[in-house]
Amino acid sequence: MAKKVAILTGGGDCPGLNAVIRAATLKLVKAGFEMVGVRHGWRGLLENEYMPLDIKSTADILAKGGTILRTSRTNPMKQSGGAELLVDNLQQNDIWATIAIGGDDTLGVANKLHGEYSLNMVGVPKTIDNDLSGTDYTFGFDTAVQIATECIDRLNTTAESHDRTIVVEIMGRHTGWITVMAGIAGGADVIMLPEFEVSVAEVCDALRRSRGGGKNFNIVAVSEGAKLLTREGEEQLVTQSEEVDAFGNVKLGGVANLLAKEIERRTGFETRATVLGHIQRGGTPTAHDRILATRYGIKAAEMVEAGQWGQMAALQGDEIVSVPLAVAVGERKLVRPELWELARTFFA
Ligand code: F6P
Repeated sequence: MAKKVAILTGGGDCPGLNAVIRAATLKLVKAGFEMVGVRHGWRGLLENEYMPLDIKSTADILAKGGTILRTSRTNPMKQSGGAELLVDNLQQNDIWATIAIGGDDTLGVANKLHGEYSLNMVGVPKTIDNDLSGTDYTFGFDTAVQIATECIDRLNTTAESHDRTIVVEIMGRHTGWITVMAGIAGGADVIMLPEFEVSVAEVCDALRRSRGGGKNFNIVAVSEGAKLLTREGEEQLVTQSEEVDAFGNVKLGGVANLLAKEIERRTGFETRATVLGHIQRGGTPTAHDRILATRYGIKAAEMVEAGQWGQMAALQGDEIVSVPLAVAVGERKLVRPELWELARTFFA
């Protein structure tokens, strides 16, 4: 009987998930495995929600955004008896190995299930935030940067027409990868990231310098997780709600609105805020992300064939390698100081 391999997508969706599913399915079916999709991430393993996958059913999904498997932010380790139920369900459904495609939350669960319950787990790094360690890039990130850059390009033209400053809020949770890349690519006048401190006073000074130098409009790119330093020593992380999800994540958002008001009040420059939000996660993946996701999917399948459990496919330089899941989820990958210095060179 063919060994059964499950594949699931957990956490926030991101462009390229379907490309991983397609590649891993094709490679493993050709190698004689049976593939099953788990719907809604870890929740699907608690509730036995499966769908069969084969080469034909995954043939046309390469360019499709989102995930055909659906996703959830369910944390089975948070529910009493959740992990044991999951282990039982895997056994009863004859699932020999699982490929988990996700960010630090989803892969953190895969790591625990491997370490504490000896389950055959393989990981694939997904997140637009690019904050996973052990890999140079996650898929989905390039698409998000491309979208955010296009948005900044558009904001540039309308800001210029109206002599305005526009503050654009960019996703990334507690890291500023998308913001720094899109900010550089879009020519933002000031960039604010969670990793490096820039006070509101410094932002306003830069904008005044820019106007003094003859520019009639400005773009400020701010990470949703950037802290606002409105007064000396006063840090404010702007959250939409104090509630946290099953993984302890707060819902970020709103920093651009606050910052825009503060800039207008302090400088007198007419200022607007734009929150890019989930647009950054939607739609078709870039060619770069399709290729990276495909390489990850093939590598994950090879890791299953080789029994490399507790490992994650990763990009290091131009090589796809495997790294321990524990490394990937151990520490958040922050924007490097040299990239920040490069970005700062262009501040007004
Ligand atoms: O982790 C991906 C991400 O898009 C973050 O950048 C953002 O803070 C969060 O997910 C939004 O989560 P949700 O889709 O639950 O609103």
